[in-house]
Amino acid sequence: MSSVTLDHVSKQFGDAKGVEDVHIHIESGEFFTFLGPSGCGKTTTLRMIAGFYYPTRGRICFGSRDVTSLPPHKRNTGMVFQNYALFPHMTVFENIAFGLKVRKIPKVEMKERVERVMKLVRLEGYGERRIDQLSGGQQQRVALARALVIEPQILLLDEPLSNLDAKLREETRYEIKRLQMELGITTIYVTHDQAEAMSMSDRVMVMQGGEVQQVGTPHEIYHRPVNRFVASFIGETNLWEGIVAGIDGNEVRVRVAPDLVLTGYAHNVSPQVRLVPGETVVLSIRPETVQESTGADGENVVSGTVVLAEFTGACVNYVTSVGPHQLRSMSISQGRPLKQRGETISLHIPKASIYFAG
Ligand SMILES: Nc1ncnc2c1ncn2[C@@H]1O[C@H](COP(=O)(O)OP(=O)(O)OP(=O)(O)O)[C@@H](O)[C@H]1O
Ligand SMILES: [Mg+2]
Repeated sequence: MSSVTLDHVSKQFGDAKGVEDVHIHIESGEFFTFLGPSGCGKTTTLRMIAGFYYPTRGRICFGSRDVTSLPPHKRNTGMVFQNYALFPHMTVFENIAFGLKVRKIPKVEMKERVERVMKLVRLEGYGERRIDQLSGGQQQRVALARALVIEPQILLLDEPLSNLDAKLREETRYEIKRLQMELGITTIYVTHDQAEAMSMSDRVMVMQGGEVQQVGTPHEIYHRPVNRFVASFIGETNLWEGIVAGIDGNEVRVRVAPDLVLTGYAHNVSPQVRLVPGETVVLSIRPETVQESTGADGENVVSGTVVLAEFTGACVNYVTSVGPHQLRSMSISQGRPLKQRGETISLHIPKASIYFAG
């Protein structure tokens, strides 16, 4: 197992920016995820770690070893590509054995290692099948086995679940996590699915437009997003603009409408934001923190008209029109009758749930 350091790494494709100044240290044995929308630079960064692209600037180290100019086959990384890239004319066994054949591993050892890894990914008995006789999920596991069989120091997975249906995604997600924990292998995982990133990772790097927005634990990026992009990309949130009306110790009052002032805590602020009276600020309020209020008065109680009421079984979701804003709220269903569209509702926004995001 090995740690991975990207030391101010950039990749330029001619005039086009691939990624810009990525500076991270991934711990040995960590499950680390690159998360961001399409085209943000996830695959480019992963390919530089694998050695398929060389950085335009910066250095890449595995542990203390500088691998920046090493070709892929000398890096001892196992990679699962976005589209699996399996050999369709070969059997499952031949696909998995490929990397060992290239490395000239003796036949007996090769057979042993392929069988061990087939067991690990639960593909026992499938050795003689051709790839085109497998389901999407089974193909995905062949790709994973092919990466694992070379016993890599670092496992690189590029959207390995993107072609699977919802149920299979969830199962395979669990499988990958189980394998990673069992083998203790440093794993770098690429996805644009935030739920996947949140549930699997030790830490997540959120990217946009080739640049790193934030690196943190799932808890940090969810509860302490550094800017409004991260706040809205990770989970759902209400982003309300307002003007700082006053600061009193740790309490910050923000005017979000001519007749509506909300209070939050000054410590719930992104390091990129300065709270100054008269300045515009963006409040991030998570829907699950907003709850129906029994009274119409009180601090941070807002009233409005229901524009959307949704019952999902476990949850009740409302979208409420509050002055110039819309407020999404989400609560566990308690068997109470649902408010209907057009009805008035009062909602409480707890002070502690307001985060000043930018
Ligand atoms: N070989 C290349 N030549 C030119 N531009 C490239 C090349 N590879 C990637 N790019 C550009 O670099 C940027 C980042 O691409 P990358 O493939 O890393 O995105 P991604 O985050 O993996 O997206 P997706 O989620 O769609 O896979 C994009 O703007 C892309 O067009
Ligand atoms: Mg990609």
